[in-house]
Amino acid sequence: MAATVIDGKAFAGTVREKVAAHVERIKAEAGVTPGLAVVLVGEDPASQVYVRSKGKQTAEAGMNSFEHKLDADTSEADLLAVVDQLNNDPAVHGILVQLPLPDHLDSDLVINSIDPAKDVDGFHISNVGLLGTGQKSMVPCTPLGCLMMLRDHHGSLSGMNAVVIGRSNIVGKPMAQLLLNDSCTVTIAHSRTADLPGVVRQADIVVAAVGRPEMVPGDWIKPGATVIDVGINRLDAPEKGEGKTRLVGDVDYDSCAAVAGAITPVPGGVGPMTIACLLANTVTACCRANGLEEPEGLTA
Ligand code: GUN
Repeated sequence: MAATVIDGKAFAGTVREKVAAHVERIKAEAGVTPGLAVVLVGEDPASQVYVRSKGKQTAEAGMNSFEHKLDADTSEADLLAVVDQLNNDPAVHGILVQLPLPDHLDSDLVINSIDPAKDVDGFHISNVGLLGTGQKSMVPCTPLGCLMMLRDHHGSLSGMNAVVIGRSNIVGKPMAQLLLNDSCTVTIAHSRTADLPGVVRQADIVVAAVGRPEMVPGDWIKPGATVIDVGINRLDAPEKGEGKTRLVGDVDYDSCAAVAGAITPVPGGVGPMTIACLLANTVTACCRANGLEEPEGLTA
């Protein structure tokens, strides 16, 4: 039977609607408007696209959007001063420093200078520690989006075997932690894993987050498993015309879809969920800061 296609684009729309409804409610009931500040250092074209999209979607959800664009040669002291100002600004409930930062800036230092309560990326070591000990934290957006889709598809994840391929701080490690917190049996696989196909074949849930185009073939997938593809890779597509490209994930979609029970496509799967979860984290941070009821179903 053909796999169910998990429509991340539609799901992200539902998340954004829930965020907007909660924003409207807290504006009316408490007179508070959530605010998200995004800091972009330099002119990386991909980062500029991301930041523009974040600003637009933040405003569409009824929240305040603040953008701080700094020159590529901004000093660490000047960047830390901007973060400090945002930490102390009561109109700002979420702060995101767009990564990657230019090489002369220490990303860990900068991220750990953000007030953990405003760390809507969930990258601050305090939030990593809170998540790791099963306490209330800010949860990284991409893994949170994957978790929401998995819970929506399966209901309970308890007792399922999950294999996360990739061990990044942004996706792989927090994803594994979230699945563990939902009572999955979790394996984190990576480039040095022995018999990766054999490990993946044990999985009821496969999350691929390695950044290697179409690396996971269908014959690694247990029949009926759920495949969540976090990869966004751009490949040349001369068949579409001179200089054209196409987006592919970390799994070989056609062969995996032929075996899986459910699968996320690329594009239109995990990707749209990331910004939707950033909006969700911002409204959650705002509610926590103001002692207001948090939106339901938008946190881990
Ligand atoms: N660069 C690409 N994705 C992200 C993200 O989710 N957060 C931050 N801070 N930078 C990014």
